[in-house]
Amino acid sequence: MSLCRGAGLLAAALILLALAGGGNGQSPPAGKELFAKRCGGCHALDREKEGPRLGGVYGRPSASVPSFDYSPALKQARIEWNMDSLDRWLTDPDQFAPGTDMAFRLDKPGERRAIIDYLRGLSGK
Ligand code: HEC
Repeated sequence: MSLCRGAGLLAAALILLALAGGGNGQSPPAGKELFAKRCGGCHALDREKEGPRLGGVYGRPSASVPSFDYSPALKQARIEWNMDSLDRWLTDPDQFAPGTDMAFRLDKPGERRAIIDYLRGLSGK
């Protein structure tokens, strides 16, 4: 009897694993979850919150969402968001654009990379 239950649990675990691994390769689930956890309090993909929308941000010029009220600091930065600029920005926004309104830093390089990869996948780059 306990053997049967064991097999049932194993099957359930395998199904869960299969569901969890069902990403499309372009946007790894890890990046998506990290984005929700670390950035989701202030950012959404398709609307403004405390921060501007980030869907399509990869490859977009900085401070270019017309309906968002950017800080003068970020307006002056005039860069394009790519792997390098996003990594520097997330490491220390205030060093990147002194006086910016984004009061948040992501210290872990692996998490920065996963989130940037996720945003890049959303931009189709
Ligand atoms: C505490 C709130 C907060 C958190 C958390 C936060 N942001 Fe921001 N973010 C902002 C604000 C506010 C701005 C606008 C900054 C300005 O105008 O100086 C911004 C701006 C940005 C921009 C510039 C967008 C553009 O249109 O030029 C990017 C890119 C960005 N954030 C990425 C992220 C990512 C990725 C995360 C998670 C790792 C994150 N942010 C977490 C508040 C936040």
